[in-house]
Formats: sequence, C-alpha cells, structure tokens
Amino acid sequence: MPETSSTAAAALMPSVTAAQAAVEQELVDTVVASFDNTEDPRLKDLMQSLTRHLHNFIREVRLTEEEWNAGIAFLTAAGHITDENRQEFILLSDVLGASMQTIAVNNQTHKTATEATVFGPFFVNDAPGIPVGGDIAGDAAGQPCWVEGTVTDTEGKPVPGARIEVWEADEDGFYDVQYTDNRVAGRAHLFADQDGKYAFWGLTPTPYPIPHDGPVGRLLEATHRSPVRASHLHFMVTAKGLRTLVTHIFVEGDPQIDIGDSVFGVKESLIKRFEPQAAGTPAPGGRNLEGQEWARVRFDIVLAPATS
Ligand code: BEZ
Ligand code: FE
Repeated sequence: MPETSSTAAAALMPSVTAAQAAVEQELVDTVVASFDNTEDPRLKDLMQSLTRHLHNFIREVRLTEEEWNAGIAFLTAAGHITDENRQEFILLSDVLGASMQTIAVNNQTHKTATEATVFGPFFVNDAPGIPVGGDIAGDAAGQPCWVEGTVTDTEGKPVPGARIEVWEADEDGFYDVQYTDNRVAGRAHLFADQDGKYAFWGLTPTPYPIPHDGPVGRLLEATHRSPVRASHLHFMVTAKGLRTLVTHIFVEGDPQIDIGDSVFGVKESLIKRFEPQAAGTPAPGGRNLEGQEWARVRFDIVLAPATS
C-alpha cells in the first residue's frame, strides 16, 4: 500500500505517497509565487487561481503524457479551424457550460428582470433596421411568426426607444452568415415605441446543430452528446441606464428542451408558447399569408438596472 499523507492534496489523490504529493505541491507553490510581482491585482488573482485549479485537475485525474498531448492537439486543431467566421474556442466554452456559467456570474437575477442566456456566434453588428410590425425574415425560409411584447424596467415602467436586435436561423437550421452568398435574412433591429411596445414578423424557430465539423464536434461525438440546440430566437436589448440583455426565447413543447440543449442555454422562464394559427386566420397588419399556417408568441422583456 502506498504511504498516504494527511494533506488535502493527498486526500484528493489517495494513490499518491506523501513524498510524491509534496513534490507536486512544491511545483504548484513555485508557479503561484512566479506571479507574485504582477502589478495588476486582478491579473495576479486570475493567474494564481488558474494555476491552482489547473494543477489540481492534472493531479486529481493523474493526467498521462499521452492525454496531455491529445489535449494540446485538440487546442491546436481548434486554433487551426478558427478564423473571422468560425470561433472554435467560444464553441468549446459553450459546450463545456463555461459560457453559461460566466453569464450566470455576471447577470445575477434581479427582481423580475428577464434572464440572460448564451450569445452564440451568429450576431452581426449592422443588421437592417425595421419599423415596429416589420419583417426580419426577408428571404429566409420558414413558418411566419408574429412576435410581440413590451420592454419595461423592473418597476413596470415602459422603456420607449429600447433597441431590440433579433436574429434567428431559417427552417433548414442555418443563419444567413452561414451561406456563402452574402444574404442578409432572419435578422434586424427595431426600437420599442412610445409605450415600450414592439412587434415584428419572424420565423417559428426550429432546432439546429451548432457547427460540429471540427474538434468540438468530435468531442461531442466521442462523449455521445448531441450538437443540437433547442429551437430559439435571439434577442439583444439595450437602453440607457439599464442592463443590456442578451437572451433567447425557446419554443414550448420542443422535444429538444428535454433531450438537452447542447450549450445549456435553456432557462424555464424563457420557454414561451408559440401559438399555432390555422391557415386563413387574419394576420396582424393585414398581412396576406396566402393560406399558410403561422404562429404568434408574446415576450415581455424586463430590463434590470445597469448597476444591479
Ligand atoms: C447559437 O445559438 O446560434 C449558438 C450558440 C452557441 C454555439 C453555437 C451556436
Ligand atoms: Fe442560435
């Protein structure tokens, strides 16, 4: 039987002798101390804590050199596939739940404020502007969906002029930026009206996979995890003096919610009822849907104070 130490490190690794644990701990202490002269106290904290956690991980799982090499090869492949259109490191953070954990830490719940969720890689800055009641879908294929609601603060006061960015995939599961023809579809921005009300035509969201033809996809496959995201529609809402909200709404009844969202973005409060409307049901704004079925959903947005 190996000799065991009574230190916390040895308790974590009962197979390690006290002498071996001491060698490993000395290295941790030396690396932590190497950051002692960092002027920026936050950077010092981050690097020292990262060192402790990283070393603890290596020690706890008794990382083999082969596994270390595989990890480096994984990160190298993530680097190679990353360019201005593809960000494999954010995708990795997303599937590890690190993105959602960072969002949780930075968007603490505040009274009735709408909850935040993951940003995703498909937002673009210069989406076209539409009036209230306009159409974000453009040429994107899918079932028309009327989306309406209000923007208020947590005291219930309307927020006229709140800027609302919306973006979504088409019914084939692709965002416009994933096509190679420079199309702009399924995205726009609009401003809440004098009463804080907004409305637009979009598409009823459908489930789609995150990009999974790279190292993150291979990781999901090796761990028998699905790359599919629960159906959703993205929002980013900004208004002076209020906390910027990055969120989605999800489709009540979408089986992918129970199967699991690949990036852990679903929150109960964000699941909304998309009410199916039979073909021929009169549509808002007198829109002629030529006998198509459509849907409608209400999403009332509550913004937290900027300082909360
Ligand atoms: C998305 O919702 O578009 C998304 C989010 C995280 C990773 C990939 C895609
Ligand atoms: Fe998305």
